[in-house]
Amino acid sequence: MCGIVGYMGEKPAVPILINGLEKLEYRGYDSAGIAVIQDSNLIIEKSVGKLDSLKGRLKDNLTSARAGIGHTRWATHGRPSDVNSHPHQDCSGKFAVVHNGIIENYQELRQQLVDNGHRFVSETDTEVLAHLVEEFYEGDLLQAVFKMLPVIRGSYALVVASAHHPEELVAARQDSPLIIGLDGNNTYLASDIPAILPYTRTTYVLENGEVVSINPQGVNIYNADGTPKNKEVFHVDWDLEAAEKGGYEHFMLKEIHEQPRALRDTLKGRLKDNGQVHLEGVNLTQEEANDLEKIAIIACGTAHYAGMVGKYILEKFLRLPVEDDVASEFRYREPILNKNHTLGLVISQSGETADTLASLREAKKAGATVLAITNVVGSSVARESDHVIYTWAGPEIAVASTKAYVTQVLTQYLLAMYLGKKRGNASWANEMGKKLKLLPDYVKEVLIRLEPEMRRLAGHIVPHEHAFFIGRGLDYPVSLEGALKLKEISYLHAEAYAAGELKHGTLALIEDGTPVIALATQTELFEKMLSNIKEVKARGAWVLALTQEGNTAVAKEADEVLYLPPVPDWLAPIVTVVPLQLLAYYTAVARGCDVDKPRNLAKSVTVE
Ligand code: G6P
Repeated sequence: MCGIVGYMGEKPAVPILINGLEKLEYRGYDSAGIAVIQDSNLIIEKSVGKLDSLKGRLKDNLTSARAGIGHTRWATHGRPSDVNSHPHQDCSGKFAVVHNGIIENYQELRQQLVDNGHRFVSETDTEVLAHLVEEFYEGDLLQAVFKMLPVIRGSYALVVASAHHPEELVAARQDSPLIIGLDGNNTYLASDIPAILPYTRTTYVLENGEVVSINPQGVNIYNADGTPKNKEVFHVDWDLEAAEKGGYEHFMLKEIHEQPRALRDTLKGRLKDNGQVHLEGVNLTQEEANDLEKIAIIACGTAHYAGMVGKYILEKFLRLPVEDDVASEFRYREPILNKNHTLGLVISQSGETADTLASLREAKKAGATVLAITNVVGSSVARESDHVIYTWAGPEIAVASTKAYVTQVLTQYLLAMYLGKKRGNASWANEMGKKLKLLPDYVKEVLIRLEPEMRRLAGHIVPHEHAFFIGRGLDYPVSLEGALKLKEISYLHAEAYAAGELKHGTLALIEDGTPVIALATQTELFEKMLSNIKEVKARGAWVLALTQEGNTAVAKEADEVLYLPPVPDWLAPIVTVVPLQLLAYYTAVARGCDVDKPRNLAKSVTVE
């Protein structure tokens, strides 16, 4: 986890590096640093803390630098500190390295290097890279990197700068993202697209094993074995606006409000008038679809809760067994996947989450066909899967996922329709398609009608230290997602329970005034939810209930009831989650929390 940038060209390097790091701060923000090459000297500035502390340290004397590298860090090996910040240097001070990922064998490498006389100053795994380049250097920077790569084990996107080679940067990638932006004699490097969008839309998306040498004339790309490679450019069609706050106080609020648009874009071109579903990256044959005996859903965090909704939906409509796992468990539990009869459904907003990626590989090894749902074109998850459905949510910057979640759930409805049609079991699909088309408007209505309510109701939650979310059936995974939103951004202890489980322990935690958010959107379970609401009310809870218009019986039991549009039960998860996102948002704002960058968390967890 970290963001890296690089630049070589005709313009002053420092502002470009700093702007790039600003766009990548969502990848980590406990320290930052840059190294620039000026008058054949390598000059490094770095600082613990957010990017502003680095900016405060930068002097005006770096204006003539035309090349450099930069890094924003989320600590893994070594606590956040000045000395552990990147770039890292070798003993001579002639090489500087920025790195995203983990060098797994760094301890043994470090020992060997120390035995050879190298002196280390930081606690990081990255520092071995700088010393290894120094060790292998014989007058050619690119060759030194080529010699180093077979020695290191783990994941990396790395860029090396050297005072010996003021007109060269060398970069390499394995299991961590790296993008190159091309604009005439200016070349940009970054972990993610928003960092280079102000300058260019013409890019190379590096793949594992690729090594790049950048000089003022352009870019040379090589395979890991050193053979030159011709690579296709990738044209980015996101606009920069989409990656910026657009007038909202926080990215999270902006992204909550973007949900109708994100849903509409994700549906675009996919629902045909004749009831067929077109998923451009999915081409399962009828035989493959018919042969499926099981779906195994694998994801982390919010993407996993989207997958839990998918489990209910896919099972209900396809009558196929569906398992769901968090990727960090799946990858180690030796799951039984019937070769050629299992669809591994991997869900990841970033497409780079380390556990998710490792599970994807496990699933493939076990013989599953893997279908990915991801938001990032060209991401590792997308590239390594057999089939891909992109969620067209656009860049999601806030750490707390919102628009990605609703589009992940939506794509699973589309997948259910697609598989149902292929398997000849889709009498329900046309009706589903019609309702899905209405979904963006339902969400818009919820935003307009319920945002002021959620702002008001957040006032009830703010003074408490604990809150509980309860629901049954499809409301249960949504409760989990609602509780996750609240705890990750407002630091309030929130827990979700399948409402039927309350009496097995949680009820003991309910005291006078404890906030309980009760989701009651499932018709067949409505009566049961009313009983659960009564149970917590009897112990003194303050109950906020959410249900569809018309379910007025709940008003007699709960302290507050909010009515959702009259969506069918199976569609409720996407509509219900929106007020829960707003509740978390306004609670966090009222508690003075850093909404977009909650403490200890990062947007994209690219290490285990
Ligand atoms: C982090 C983010 C979550 C996200 C999870 C999985 O924990 O903070 O918002 O749900 O990673 O990320 P992915 O990119 O794989 O969906």
